[in-house]
Amino acid sequence: MSSTILVTGATGYIGSHTCLELLESGYQLIGIDNLSNSREESLRRVQKLSGKPLTFIRCDLLDEAGLARVFAEHPVDAVIHFAGLKAVGESVEKPLLYYKNNLSGTANLLEAMANAEVKNIVFSSSCTVYGIPEKLPISEDFPLQAVSPYGQTKLTIEYMLQDLHASDPQWNISILRYFNPVRAHPSGDIGEDPSGIPNNLMPYITQVAVGEREQLSVFGGDYDTPDGTCIRDYIHVVDLAKGHIKALEKLQDNPGAVITNLGTGQGYSVLDMIRAFAAATGIKIPYQIVERRAGDTTAVYADAGKAERDLGWKAKRDLQQMCKDAHRWQSKNPRGYL
Ligand code: NAD
Ligand code: UFG
Repeated sequence: MSSTILVTGATGYIGSHTCLELLESGYQLIGIDNLSNSREESLRRVQKLSGKPLTFIRCDLLDEAGLARVFAEHPVDAVIHFAGLKAVGESVEKPLLYYKNNLSGTANLLEAMANAEVKNIVFSSSCTVYGIPEKLPISEDFPLQAVSPYGQTKLTIEYMLQDLHASDPQWNISILRYFNPVRAHPSGDIGEDPSGIPNNLMPYITQVAVGEREQLSVFGGDYDTPDGTCIRDYIHVVDLAKGHIKALEKLQDNPGAVITNLGTGQGYSVLDMIRAFAAATGIKIPYQIVERRAGDTTAVYADAGKAERDLGWKAKRDLQQMCKDAHRWQSKNPRGYL
């Protein structure tokens, strides 16, 4: 496959892992990012790991002229759209920032694509669009509900894309709803690089493991789950990245606008993750059960059947590998890409 893919949010966490898979699968790459939550170093490492070059352009999706230039100067066959702000808590504090960046940014991107006659796109959505699910596992036809401004932007972009397809059936659109991605490529050279105190569980666990933080606070021990802690569907970021390659390939069959969960279909509790980390690395994580965190849902895991049926994709990497690779990245890069 020698098509050229434009990746927005390319220097970011999931973007950089997907860039690596794209290069290794033989695609040509143009990565764009405004570097608001990432560093160019990630793509330097992606090129080193793959032994292949890519083009990086610093560009903000809010800069319409800049976007038009990117499409005018580079032939593009399809876009994978990761760029966006993603912190749920920050979105509650600064909703307008999220609506402007994520919604206007995406509208600008889609307009630039339409003007350049590029009508193939894969979009990063999230399982957050299911809100508080009434039953489990969660399949793609479940009712949708935004529980934060961040989730509202994901839901609105999903509708934006479906309306676009309804207005012009030449568009091929793959909406991927991710469950909980876990950290890092097995090389330990690229990984998730959160700034400041991590919000998410695995970055926190690995920072405790290398002595960057003292102990993990487990948010809530009284949920209606077997051990009282919340359940999530943790997925290795390399599996997630590979799902994008499958979604891109599928666009060639002109599927219309399709929605697919990317999860493993398995739910694990917070205490399961602490135990799995100890089993994989030999490091026991000190923890304390504290108050529940506002906004957390008791249990979330995917029905992963549609991805297997429609995309021929299934997550292969287990918790042991997720924990080992997460720890390797943290040990090799205790302060991230700095
Ligand atoms: P990330 O922050 O590492 O990557 C997003 C990238 O987008 C960053 O590099 C940032 O600099 C860039 N960006 C933001 N606004 C931009 C703009 N206006 N113009 C150009 N670049 C801009 O996040 P990630 O974890 O890699 O997430 C990628 C996508 O996947 C996001 O859309 C996110 O909402 C979605 N997602 C992430 C998760 C998760 O847990 N990480 C879960 C579900 C969905
Ligand atoms: N947790 C702790 N201690 C921590 C961090 C997390 O106990 O220090 C717990 C949380 O309470 C939750 C579980 O670990 O029970 C997973 O939490 P994460 O923050 O890692 O993941 P979330 O499922 O809360 O959030 C993720 C993405 C969001 C997205 C959401 C959709 O990070 O962007 O899934 O459900 F919106």
